Amino acid sequence: MSLQVANGKKLYIQEVAPRDGFQNEMQFIDTDQKIALVDRLSDAGYAKIEVTSFTSPKAIPALRDAEEVMHRIRRNPDVVYTVLVPNVRGAERAMECKVDEINLVMSASETHNRANLRMTRAQSLAQLADVIASVSSERVAINVSLSTVFGCPMEGDIDPYQVFELVGRFATLGAHGVTLCDTTGMAYPSQVARIAREARKLFPKLALTLHFHDTRGMALANTLAALDEGIERFDASLGGLGGCPYAPGASGNACTEDLVHMLNLMGYDTGIREQELLDIASGLPGLIGHELPGHLNKAGLRSRLHSVPTRC
Ligand code: COA
Ligand code: ZN
Repeated sequence: MSLQVANGKKLYIQEVAPRDGFQNEMQFIDTDQKIALVDRLSDAGYAKIEVTSFTSPKAIPALRDAEEVMHRIRRNPDVVYTVLVPNVRGAERAMECKVDEINLVMSASETHNRANLRMTRAQSLAQLADVIASVSSERVAINVSLSTVFGCPMEGDIDPYQVFELVGRFATLGAHGVTLCDTTGMAYPSQVARIAREARKLFPKLALTLHFHDTRGMALANTLAALDEGIERFDASLGGLGGCPYAPGASGNACTEDLVHMLNLMGYDTGIREQELLDIASGLPGLIGHELPGHLNKAGLRSRLHSVPTRC
């Protein structure tokens, strides 16, 4: 299906640069500049923006200004503003900021969960179950991002049925959506197709998102495989920024402007204006102090034409 005309099928593109991207930057990004970036992203046509994370400032110092960012951004009512939350303390902080969604996080891999969150998976599950119970009467959506679903850089392959068991636990607890994350770019298209197909069959009522990193150059190929299986929600990061400081070898996410450009060309309705995205992305290297891996920023839109080269 992905290689046929998409006929304007609606897709939900979710920007994660302010969280997945900035969490991994060595240099602290100024709070005013973070807010200005989120405000510009708010008008670009995204379905959702992951603004920051309410994690321990010792674990993720780059996002130690989470409250201030969340309080001072301008909210577009058409955008869902979400934040990453690892524990009860994080959920309390998020609720004080009146987020639209809490994006709970734990890993499908025991080793990565211990490295990233300093908890066993059982401890994480218990904490997150407490969070879901404590906010169930509030007007906040609950998503769960499961890291290392497609492979762990320390354990290798993860049994998909362990992943589905976790997804099932969260569905029963009342989560609205689950994100299957390829934290270090270990996913490959046939594996993505298999896992996405099974996940949709087992959990038809859950909003499933796929979250790819382009560490091994397979993020767009994996996106096509997921589209083929009916997945409609994708995380991506402006410029291809991103990475988890506690996952060895992690690098940037699927690049939003590259992804949107491809999907728009194929006839999907992403709701995103590519040129606007490119304009915002062109300011990122100046903000973070280094170049970014995205392609479109270097090559320009496919519609960009060049003058005929002169022979010397
Ligand atoms: N927000 C702010 N502070 C928090 C917090 C939160 N969500 N959770 C814990 N803390 C504080 C505690 O108050 C305590 O502070 P103190 O030293 O001043 O007393 C300190 O952090 C340690 O608390 P503890 O419960 O022992 O946590 P920990 O050190 O075992 O860390 C996590 C556990 C989950 C909080 C931490 O590992 C974390 O934030 N990880 C996030 C990793 C991440 O975001 N990775 C990338 C995304 S996948
Ligand atoms: Zn990620």
